[in-house]
Amino acid sequence: MRPATTGNDAAMTILLRRRLILAGPALLAAPALAGRPAAAQAPRTPAQMEGPYYPRAIPDDADADLLRVAGQPAPARGVPLFLEGVVRAADGSALPGARVEIWQADDQGIYLHPGDARLAQRDPGFQGFGRAVADGAGRYAFRTIRPGLYPGRTRHIHLRAQPAAGGGALTTQVYFPDEPRNEGDMLLRRLAPDQRAALTARVTPADGGLRAGFDIVLA
Ligand SMILES: [Fe+2]
Repeated sequence: MRPATTGNDAAMTILLRRRLILAGPALLAAPALAGRPAAAQAPRTPAQMEGPYYPRAIPDDADADLLRVAGQPAPARGVPLFLEGVVRAADGSALPGARVEIWQADDQGIYLHPGDARLAQRDPGFQGFGRAVADGAGRYAFRTIRPGLYPGRTRHIHLRAQPAAGGGALTTQVYFPDEPRNEGDMLLRRLAPDQRAALTARVTPADGGLRAGFDIVLA
């Protein structure tokens, strides 16, 4: 069970809602969405392996703000990253209430998982895992950090999305443009160019960090 909602959680919920409202016009103006009729077919977001670091136990604080952990005095270390986008069905319609989960390494490349050999050194101020529910227009948003690097992989965030009605869950990974390790990454390099583009976030500067746009199309 989650602990009772704190004042900080409530403030963050308001902040996230405000970000979504502010992002509204920008999302509508995005090339991927502009002019696309609601019923347009969209290619399904490619699936990728779950990997070994999905949390073995969901942490008590599992909200959409990974920069703050309930009970921890310091915020997460690293570059703040605002990961946001729209969840749609293959017919182009938005999926309100879709559930989105992310899990990722901290700024030093360490996962919240007993299988990570460096677990003892992980940043206690970074949540490592979070959940969001898409709003009425299918939009979701997380506050997190740019994930740190660890041996053998390029920079990435693990993501799982599922329609509110259940079924049709997608597990995949979010990549970043212009990363030196992208060309050598065993999972990224095997993708066709259109699939690779679909899994690469649109990264732009944001106040105090980076914005990463990542839309999701479920089957
Ligand atoms: Fe990973």
